Amino acid sequence: MKIAETKQETRKIVKEWKKQGLSVGLVPTMGFLHEGHESLILKSAAENDKTVVSVFVNPMQFGKNEDLEDYPRDFERDCSICRKAGADLIFHPCPQEMYPADFFSYVNVDRITEGLCGSDRPGHFRGVCTVVSKLFHITTPDRAYFGQKDAQQLAVIKKMVQDLDFDLQVIGCPTVREADGLAKSSRNTYLSPEERKAAAVIHRTLEYAKEAISQGQRDAGELKKELVSRIEKEPLAEIDYIELVDGELLQPVKVLKKPLLIAAAVRVGKTRLIDNYFWE
Ligand code: PAJ
Repeated sequence: MKIAETKQETRKIVKEWKKQGLSVGLVPTMGFLHEGHESLILKSAAENDKTVVSVFVNPMQFGKNEDLEDYPRDFERDCSICRKAGADLIFHPCPQEMYPADFFSYVNVDRITEGLCGSDRPGHFRGVCTVVSKLFHITTPDRAYFGQKDAQQLAVIKKMVQDLDFDLQVIGCPTVREADGLAKSSRNTYLSPEERKAAAVIHRTLEYAKEAISQGQRDAGELKKELVSRIEKEPLAEIDYIELVDGELLQPVKVLKKPLLIAAAVRVGKTRLIDNYFWE
């Protein structure tokens, strides 16, 4: 497995592979890898001749009061996870390599970035779309792998690829969870033992939603009320949002029908956790 810190070196390696007719999969990450990331790398390695993993904590997608400085990092460990999962190249640039001082261009997807995490985190998806576009140009993948855990991010990237004619396939991958259902996340390391226990309420509540829908619940307002009250029963949890939206443009719905996304962002202590249930 190779490690490249520059765009130039990465381009050179990928061009060589392409010349040989090899297919390339890309797994964009911010590092501090866990089994969620690993599942994406394994899938890419199974479906492509070569797999590139990018490890870059993207400053552009963090708000002023967010955890950019504290974001957990362990590049050595990331390398060993990538190697074991079958990656062929890690692209690990420094911020200056991605954003030199004279950087003025951004990629913006409207409308589906406005609700859910977009309203709490202004500029977040502009940062995600800009960095992901750059990664697509630098690594020219045939397929790119994203987790359904970040459902809005996945929908936004799919729309960007469609609207801006990127010549690649976006592949959504299922959420990997802890034994109690909590979605694996680099941010779970911020939780105290009590908070960690309390965090299980999010998945439990989404499982309730799944069950209610399977039993015929179709009233979005009624179901939302029930979900809010279930989360509010956990004293350490504070809801940022819980929304029932259509699965494509992510607009609020009144009557529940497929494809439906139930997305939640909940603060447990100071840690903001997201999870969702997708009915398709
Ligand atoms: P990061 O949070 O490191 O996540 C990288 C990828 O792993 C994303 O596609 C995310 O959805 C996926 N992922 C995270 N937790 C997962 C889980 N429990 N199960 C399955 N997949 C999971 O998302 C980002 O980085 C950044 O925004 C990025 C796309 C790299 C742009 O900077």
